[in-house]
Amino acid sequence: MLPTWLRERLRPRPPSHVNGDPAPSPDPADRTLEATDPGIVEEYWTDHNVTLHRTFASAEDSLADFFWRNDQYYRYIELMPVSGFDGLSVLDFGCGPGYDLVGFSTQSKPRRLVGIDVSRSSLAEAKARLELHGAEFELFHHDVANGPLPIADASIDLVHSSGVLHHMPDMAPALSELRRVLKPGGSAQFMVYHRDSLWVHLYVAHERQILQQIDAGLGLAEAFQKSTDGPNCPISRSYRQQEFIECVSKFGFEIESFGVAVSAWEMSLLEKRFAAIMDARLPRESREFLAGLRFDDRNLPLAREGVHAGIDGCYRFRAV
Ligand SMILES: C[S@@+](CC[C@H](N)C(=O)[O-])C[C@H]1O[C@@H](n2cnc3c(N)ncnc32)[C@H](O)[C@@H]1O
Repeated sequence: MLPTWLRERLRPRPPSHVNGDPAPSPDPADRTLEATDPGIVEEYWTDHNVTLHRTFASAEDSLADFFWRNDQYYRYIELMPVSGFDGLSVLDFGCGPGYDLVGFSTQSKPRRLVGIDVSRSSLAEAKARLELHGAEFELFHHDVANGPLPIADASIDLVHSSGVLHHMPDMAPALSELRRVLKPGGSAQFMVYHRDSLWVHLYVAHERQILQQIDAGLGLAEAFQKSTDGPNCPISRSYRQQEFIECVSKFGFEIESFGVAVSAWEMSLLEKRFAAIMDARLPRESREFLAGLRFDDRNLPLAREGVHAGIDGCYRFRAV
């Protein structure tokens, strides 16, 4: 079991219900995740956030924590960059307490930096943190389920949204609005939890459900939901690569690139994969996933050629 402080601060980062379409997944448990009252989502994220409501004493303290978190996910910052956006308008959708806003404001010189979140507590903490850095920013409290984003059409160059869409009861209003505010040709980088991961097949399916008997009676998708952002997190899904691309493409986006970041937590469990493969109780899908792993030249696990076996699926789309 992860220590609470670490579990809460990590965003490990689940088939979809865009437009009410059933998720194209062979796992029947995936379809048990029904839309949830958005009010519950707001309440949850007001109580819980990725810094455990930590306050920062100084810009150095804040920046040290920004770099610490990025180091918990191999490849994350390469796949979800915060540098290279000088002179551009950047929107961090679901900014939480401001981790990546700190990144954009210190590693780039954006012309406009906007954060939107449904959690008032996280927005207050983001404000305090950004002020430490002397950043110029705009923050909005808004739930896209209740209406359009408070941002003009075609005014944003980069939409960044990390660890957010997989927590939404319905991604459709968010994707539609994010496309509306993006300039044609603008970019969107999304991180959503990745189904073909050690997190799902080793940590949830074996370590938790079989060895620790946590959520043992649940389907894999439900057990996953309880393993990521706290056991009471109302919604947490994982996506297969093609499934997420299809969801997003319906809204006027074209996929540009895809890569996966692997958490240090998953790396720390890797040595346990042999015991899992030998365990006849582990479902065949998970066993074959683990038995088929390869490794790249940094010893990071690959689920298949070029696709790492980690929890953070990182997608870059272009607005078309
Ligand atoms: C796991 S946190 C990630 C926060 C931040 N992106 C990060 O990486 O640190 C998920 C965030 O999504 C926000 N969120 C969930 N549903 C939302 C919605 N409908 N509109 C805006 N933000 C939402 C939550 O309030 C929370 O801050």
